[in-house]
Amino acid sequence: MPHIRAKSVENIKLPAQVGEFRYDWIAHPLKEHESALVGVTYQDKRFLIELKPKGDTLLIKPDKTTRISPTSIMKEALKNFLHVADVEVMADNLAAKKDHAKKAQPYLKDISYFIDSFPTQKEVWIEIGFGSGRHLLYQAKTHPHIQFIGIEIHKPSIEQLLKQIALQNIQNILVVDYDARLFMEFVPSNIVGKIFVHFPVPWDKKPHRRVISKTFLQEAKRALKKGGVLELRTDSPNYFHYSLDLFLQEEQADLEVTKNIEPPISSKYEDRWVRLGKDIYDIRFKALAESPPLQRDFDFTFDDFRYDEEKIKNLPLRPMVYEDYFVHFEKIYTLENNGYLVKLSFGSFDRPEHKYLLATRYGLEYYPIPPVASKANYKAHKKIEELIHG
Ligand SMILES: C[S@@+](CC[C@H](N)C(=O)[O-])C[C@H]1O[C@@H](n2cnc3c(N)ncnc32)[C@H](O)[C@@H]1O
Repeated sequence: MPHIRAKSVENIKLPAQVGEFRYDWIAHPLKEHESALVGVTYQDKRFLIELKPKGDTLLIKPDKTTRISPTSIMKEALKNFLHVADVEVMADNLAAKKDHAKKAQPYLKDISYFIDSFPTQKEVWIEIGFGSGRHLLYQAKTHPHIQFIGIEIHKPSIEQLLKQIALQNIQNILVVDYDARLFMEFVPSNIVGKIFVHFPVPWDKKPHRRVISKTFLQEAKRALKKGGVLELRTDSPNYFHYSLDLFLQEEQADLEVTKNIEPPISSKYEDRWVRLGKDIYDIRFKALAESPPLQRDFDFTFDDFRYDEEKIKNLPLRPMVYEDYFVHFEKIYTLENNGYLVKLSFGSFDRPEHKYLLATRYGLEYYPIPPVASKANYKAHKKIEELIHG
């Protein structure tokens, strides 16, 4: 992480423009001995520089929540900051290094890519928790006209798959590093031909962490086109019975159940379980009808915000947990009589959102950008609105 260690930082003169960086304001913590934050604008992006007290010195570094890539931008922002304050520098690691930036990964997409423009030109097939990627690669090569999406949370598996995609020059797989349970709510309705969930983690002691749940099934059914299939393959009798029960709770269901049927390609897990003589169960759940279109018009602006300093200063600094989301105001900073910055986390328990709120006389907004438009984030947003207005 790029940083400057300073004996002291004084006379910070803001706002100030240095090169492409505008240093907008400084936010001081309401509590003593915590970091101050400097708001920076670079082209159309915003981020924070943290001034962190460490003994009798200060560490100047990018704020983790808002920092942007590549690191070279952050280094330049720190270097230029030396022009807007009297900084007594003791050490830094800002010398230009050889650029070790990884080759662009055109097939690895961020969640915002799917939220902004989900690929819908071709029929989509999704594999959840692709692990070694053996099954996904096989399917993509066998069905070149299908757009595949591989969802994983295990980074080494993602790296391994991306390597194979490049080596084998495969053009029809997109990869996303995201929790599949949340991803499904961004998939448009009626565009998916198949969803593979092969050997999901059984989570026998924490069933709420399972990929397959009532909510997941509803989203999968909505995303599948009529006749599309959700395929579960598992070696766990528990997971098999749990899923079968869940599928049978549907008003109408077309299910195919098989046991120990040899698949077109077996995964690493499957090989292991078969060697150990375990039974393998499949359930194929077929979507019987068209679903209504995906509704996703969440608005994360704050209407009717009245600037009330007392209310902001007295926000409860503790986690508030609701049925399927939470809100946690973590720290409050003051912008030298011009407003407040509030650090907070919120949304789903599995994929919490980390942001700031910027409150001034002119309004209230998320900083640096609004949250991902998920249901859990929207519920949390409504609660935040209520807590701030309340
Ligand atoms: C037991 S492995 C099976 C891998 C592969 N399907 C196979 O058959 O070899 C389960 C995989 O699911 C991934 N996984 C677990 N929970 C997930 C989630 N919520 N979203 C996406 N992937 C998940 C894990 O990282 C792991 O790679």
